[in-house]
Amino acid sequence: EFHHHPKELALKSDGLLGKFDNQQLQRGFLVYEKVCASCHSLSLVSFRDLRQIGYSEAEVKKIAKDWPMKQPAQDPKAGTWGERDNLPSDRFPKVYYPGTGTPPDLSLMTKARHGGPAYVYSLLTGYEEKQPAELLARFPGAKTPEGSHFNPYFANLNIAMPPPLTSENQVTYSDGTRATVDQMAKDVSAFLVWTAEPTMQTRHQAGLAVVLFLLIATGLAYGAYLTVWRGVK
Ligand code: HEM
Repeated sequence: EFHHHPKELALKSDGLLGKFDNQQLQRGFLVYEKVCASCHSLSLVSFRDLRQIGYSEAEVKKIAKDWPMKQPAQDPKAGTWGERDNLPSDRFPKVYYPGTGTPPDLSLMTKARHGGPAYVYSLLTGYEEKQPAELLARFPGAKTPEGSHFNPYFANLNIAMPPPLTSENQVTYSDGTRATVDQMAKDVSAFLVWTAEPTMQTRHQAGLAVVLFLLIATGLAYGAYLTVWRGVK
């Protein structure tokens, strides 16, 4: 009863006829880039995948080149290991996190947790300053430890991630959308739906075509049945 179900979250990509909203996905990517990427990797996505959500080739090249976390690379002559800039064909690089806890890779997060994007959205907007007195009265051991944060949407109730989205305009949206905490949380959740299944839209379209085909084929088969048996008593 102290652990909350995810809040409602409606996204354009919901449902069988849902479509990715590229403007929202780009806003969500910006939130990932500016806020989440310093702790969380996105190791199943390549920079060039961003072409699918509307970035141009030149933009992708620049995003990759400017990415602060670099790729490990070996010097071909000396054989020593160093770093190189990211290329569009590289996956988003792994992140070294020195703090407490291990930030999980976010590529499949909306598939991994019950509630999917609604869970991510709720988690990001669900931090609470104080634990309910009733919780502490019943479970004194549940007291939020030092370096942890109370969040009733997290299964464990206390999470090692400090609230990442705390103030309006933490990122600057170029499409004029107001960057409230709520909006940034929605946008990054929408973006993580896309990272987890970039081909969802194609899958739904193919499924719909299959269903239509089967309906028509059933109608034709029934028509053939009527014709074949016409006049037979
Ligand atoms: C865990 C999302 C920013 C550190 C998580 C989880 C999600 C998430 C979905 C998994 C919760 C679960 O296991 O159910 C995000 C998003 C961010 C963000 C969308 C950006 C808006 C950050 C930042 C840091 C961080 C900036 C570091 C300062 C962590 C850590 C955990 C975690 C340490 C593991 C928590 C635990 O297991 O107790 N994050 N995060 N995150 N995140 Fe973040």
